[in-house]
This record gives sequence, structure tokens and C-alpha cells, in this order.
Amino acid sequence: MEFDGRITIALSKGRIFKDTLPLLRHAGIVPVDDPETSRKLILDTNHPQIKLVIIRASDVPTYVQYGAADLGVAGKDVLLEHGGGGLYEPLDLEIAKCRLMVAGVKGAQLSNSRLRIATKFINSTRRHFAAQGKQVEIIKLYGSMELAPLVGLSDLIVDVVDTGNTLKANGLIPLEHISDISSRLVINKAAWKIKHNSITALVNALSVAVNERSTKGKNNG
Ligand code: ATP
Ligand code: PRP
Repeated sequence: MEFDGRITIALSKGRIFKDTLPLLRHAGIVPVDDPETSRKLILDTNHPQIKLVIIRASDVPTYVQYGAADLGVAGKDVLLEHGGGGLYEPLDLEIAKCRLMVAGVKGAQLSNSRLRIATKFINSTRRHFAAQGKQVEIIKLYGSMELAPLVGLSDLIVDVVDTGNTLKANGLIPLEHISDISSRLVINKAAWKIKHNSITALVNALSVAVNERSTKGKNNG
């Protein structure tokens, strides 16, 4: 693939990096360092014009919005919170799939008074309950939401659920489905204009990788 300019791709460590790696490899891009072992925040790739920046998952839309990265991979949960300004979201990478859910203690007696909801997804939570005509008090947390109802911090939580094991291990049950989540490719709008050929080539290559993996999955299933 030929590139008409430098391209920076923002990724977060952990599941997004791990699941994006095979898609990038399919597009001919291979990082030189492993972010799990390297302390570097800017990683070179086999392609001299393509660099990866390694940041917190919830910071990816911000870096891409401001053009500090041209592209990025972010969970739809994070994008719903961010609002998506300044970004194109052209491709569902179908990785890091989970569901944004309301959960609570089994058999909890929920009073009719204003419910307290602990979450890091405050915008999605507000929208979800507002659509039901419910006024709720939202308590912003940064992680381990499952603890909040166990210690009386909140009545309910809103968090992402995959296997349901974390809820189960803490005696919680899923109550309402808010949204299906997967990770999306996001692109800075100005960068797509300026580096149109490179970015389009990359989006197309990633799209082919997603489709091939999905076809393979169906054939094996
Ligand atoms: P931050 O570091 O910014 O707080 P985080 O800890 O949620 O973010 P990760 O755990 O790497 O970051 O999750 C990245 C994305 O993966 C999430 O935004 C979500 O879309 C998805 N995700 C989170 N938990 C799961 C899970 N258990 N199974 C599948 N996908 C998940
Ligand atoms: C996420 C999320 C839940 C858990 C759900 O946490 O915050 O706690 O996954 O997955 P499950 O339904 O398969 O149990 P994660 O493991 O990513 O930890 P972190 O958010 O603290 O990094």
C-alpha cells in the first residue's frame, strides 16, 4: 500500500490493541514494539510512515477529534459518551463486542424515589432513563462499578457486560439492555480530506480484513 503522508493511529492497550492487531496485519501494518512490554507511547511500525500512539481507551476520540491522531479505534460505549464531534465513524471492526446494560442486586427492592445509578457512562445513562421519563441521580465512577450497589453507593449500575461473569461473581443481575457495543474505526474529518488516498486505502484494507474474518467465522461456525 502506498501512503501520501504520515499517518498516526490511536489505540488503547489490552483488548482493543490485541483485537486490532490481526486487522492491521492483514492491511500490511505490523508494530515494531509490543505495548504490553514496552513503555513507549509512540510505536513504530514496519511502515516508515505509519505510527501508533498508545493511550487510554476513553481518550481515543479526543486525540482523533483534535487531529493528534488521524485515525483511532474506540468502543461504541466510549463514542456515545464522547458525542462524536469532528469524527467520521466509517467502519465497525466487530471486535471487543459487549452490551451496555443496567444491572442491580438480585431481588433488590427499588423504591419509587429518585434512583441512584453508578456508572462511568453518564451521558448514555442519562439518555436511557430520560427516554423512560425517569429522573435519576448519576454517580460518576471510573471503574469497578459492580461494587457500588454492594456497599450502598447506588441502587443500580450501568456498565458493559460480555459473559456476565463479573455481574454474577458480585451477585448482580442484568436488568435492561441499553445498546450493543463493538469497536469502531474513527477518523479525523480534516485528515480524511488532506490524506484522502492513504486513509481510504487503509479503510478499504481494514474493511476487507473485517469481512474475511466474518466469513471465516461463519464457515467455521
Ligand atoms: P479506560 O482505560 O479508558 O477506562 P477501559 O478500561 O474500559 O477504558 P478496556 O477495558 O481496554 O478499556 O476496554 C476497551 C473497550 O472494550 C471498551 O470501551 C468496550 O467497548 C470494550 N469492552 C470493555 N469490556 C469488555 C468486555 N468484558 N468484553 C468485551 N469488550 C469489552
Ligand atoms: C469490563 C467491565 C466489566 C467486565 C464485564 O471490565 O467493566 O467489569 O468487563 O465483562 P464480563 O461480563 O465478561 O464479566 P474489564 O475486564 O475490562 O476490566 P476494566 O474495565 O477494569 O479494565
